Amino acid sequence: MISISKEDFANLSKIHRLNLINSCTGYKSANLIGTISKKGTKNLAVFSSVTHLGSNPALLGFILRPTTVPRHTYQNIKETLFFSMNAITETSIKEAHQTSAKYQEDINEFEATGLEEECKENISIPFVKKSPLQLLCKYQNEYEIKENDTLLIVASIEKMYIDKLLLTNDFWIQLDKGNVVSINGLDGYSKNSLIDRLSYARPNEKSNSLK
Ligand SMILES: Cc1cc2nc3c(=O)[nH]c(=O)nc-3n(C[C@H](O)[C@H](O)[C@H](O)COP(=O)(O)O)c2cc1C
Repeated sequence: MISISKEDFANLSKIHRLNLINSCTGYKSANLIGTISKKGTKNLAVFSSVTHLGSNPALLGFILRPTTVPRHTYQNIKETLFFSMNAITETSIKEAHQTSAKYQEDINEFEATGLEEECKENISIPFVKKSPLQLLCKYQNEYEIKENDTLLIVASIEKMYIDKLLLTNDFWIQLDKGNVVSINGLDGYSKNSLIDRLSYARPNEKSNSLK
């Protein structure tokens, strides 16, 4: 094993430190957040920090980098309160990655990256058409993480759109059936394949395969 200490982190180049620290906590979820500004410009951005916060009420959270530079996703969410969350799939990783480029505020990032937009009835927030799992979310709150000036954005899940191939009888979503990817570090996109589902774990009892 190679041992790397906190003191060593400080001596690494910025890129090496970014790569190392961003990949050491494991695979992350891969989502595109779709928003619209008050002026009507549609925006899309890749986020790897989206996580489940609780199921009743249905809440998710994501980490927003410091707002010392313009963050269009954040600005738009504050203006309209709503956003879409779209799972990234194998065939769209290049376009999804491209959304991390710093486009000007008035650029429609669907058009700029080639990702097809989907409009849902009575909803102005744009969705990503080929995504098999799309959520409509509503901003609820934000918490400052003082240690590094980031924000934890907390949102409720208002509505879910799922390709029926992914949804099992017990309402579990099998993400690999939709070729949903995960993120390794800052620029690695990985395939997933289900190994097994296991029964609820109890002391002194072996979990069974549910497949
Ligand atoms: C793989 C990947 C994951 C990212 N995850 C996040 C994230 O979790 N939080 C964040 O604030 N920015 C994240 N970014 C950076 C945003 O995608 C980037 O700042 C983008 O330009 C934001 O666009 P916006 O200004 O339109 O909101 C990520 C970038 C990449 C390439």
